[in-house]
Amino acid sequence: MVAMLILIRQSHLLCNMTHQDFLSTLAKHYGLQSVEQMLALDQKPTYAMNTNMRGTKLLEKLQENLRRPLQGQKVIDIGCAYGGITIELARAGAEVIGVDIIPSYLTLARENAKNDVDVSFLLADVSKKKFIELVEEGSIDIIVASDVLEHIYDSAGLIFNFSKCLNADGIVYFKVPNGFSFAVIKREVHKGKFGLSLLDPDCWHYFIEGRPRIYYRRWDYFQAIFSHFGFNSFKVIKDCSKLDSSLSVKHNVKKGLEEILEIYKAQNFESAIQSELMEEQINFYKDEVLDDLKNLDSDQLEFKYLINFWEVIFSKQDKILEPNNVSKLRQVSNRVYVNDYVFLENKSVQLTSKPIWISASVSPNEEYYLKGKIYSELVSPNHVLVQIRFLDDESTLLSPPYQGISFSALPDVGAYRYIPIKKSGWSGFTVPFTTPALAKSIELGFRSWKVKSNSLSLEPAIEIGRKSQE
Ligand SMILES: C[S@@+](CC[C@H](N)C(=O)[O-])C[C@H]1O[C@@H](n2cnc3c(N)ncnc32)[C@H](O)[C@@H]1O
Repeated sequence: MVAMLILIRQSHLLCNMTHQDFLSTLAKHYGLQSVEQMLALDQKPTYAMNTNMRGTKLLEKLQENLRRPLQGQKVIDIGCAYGGITIELARAGAEVIGVDIIPSYLTLARENAKNDVDVSFLLADVSKKKFIELVEEGSIDIIVASDVLEHIYDSAGLIFNFSKCLNADGIVYFKVPNGFSFAVIKREVHKGKFGLSLLDPDCWHYFIEGRPRIYYRRWDYFQAIFSHFGFNSFKVIKDCSKLDSSLSVKHNVKKGLEEILEIYKAQNFESAIQSELMEEQINFYKDEVLDDLKNLDSDQLEFKYLINFWEVIFSKQDKILEPNNVSKLRQVSNRVYVNDYVFLENKSVQLTSKPIWISASVSPNEEYYLKGKIYSELVSPNHVLVQIRFLDDESTLLSPPYQGISFSALPDVGAYRYIPIKKSGWSGFTVPFTTPALAKSIELGFRSWKVKSNSLSLEPAIEIGRKSQE
């Protein structure tokens, strides 16, 4: 697939590199003695630490949204960084190459893949014409660009290369932060500062140190440029989870704008230039939101202001993509991944008669709790079924007995608990459990029980924590 001599192929050995091994390598990379030291840092490298988790999540999305199996597909993971996505795709049977422009990331990615999967990592700038000399024209089935396009200035060069590498049925998956969304304005995803995503990158240095190359683009920009290279069909992978479902989209947008304006007013700018630059951009933004509230429909408003990351699959042919299926997508996007070190995720989850699964990494033989609230406006007493499944390293279900669970278990449904819900209002719950010796992750299934309606929801904050932290 790739005419490159410098590719380093990993041999397939029996013993897998564990996540813990990768964390040790990462700690060393940051000049630290141990994983514990890394975890004690105020600013933990969580993005790097979660690389494999992002891979699992992305894999699921591709599997849900593509009409073909990943087995045997030729894939390029561009901007692969620590390799989690590349590795996960390889585990699913894809023939995959990870490409990145930074050598030290590739070293970490190779460590991450060591003794695990057969993948190639390649050092290259994917936006340069030279890149297509490395790939046989029309040979690739899937290009993955997760959290990458915002780092690349020459989008035209990049998409031109995509177009050359992909075969006629090929697809591009990408995920980018949406700089217009309220959440990203409140806290820019790379630097964590208010308002940065509204500013031209040339002005960022007035607010932060250095000159990072991060380019927030409008959706129209992406659509136009992909379409220019023949990618006229696209499917949005919708993440509805950030919405306050008790409000309409319009109300959510009005509320979001009010919050932004309040936060803006409370800012203490350090210099006149900062305050001048931000004032100008906030005023542009405010006018645009107010205009859009008059002219855009709910779907357009939601996409422009309420979705924090745009996740899209582009293709040159309509037939490649599954038609949008909102309920299916909701189920996928409602999965919450919590790793060993981050216990809190903010999600609002609509319950349905089908279980909604939330996955989280856990450590074996540890005591955890799951805390949450369930809201109901129904008039009859009902229950919610919370089902817990433990999975091992290979994501295989560990069979009963479900060791250490402090409530009843049935062989056919696994460990479960019925949570009574009130006729209306919030009902809280806490479920304690101890993980079995082989557990690496858990899946929590929530299902409304004996209800006719599906209008229950979980409180946005679902907490999974070590019991000692209760
Ligand atoms: C935020 S990281 C994304 C990592 C990974 N895709 C993930 O989701 O875990 C962006 C990556 O894109 C890489 N990158 C930026 N510009 C690039 C270019 N022109 N060619 C190849 N890689 C590039 C960066 O080095 C970085 O590793």
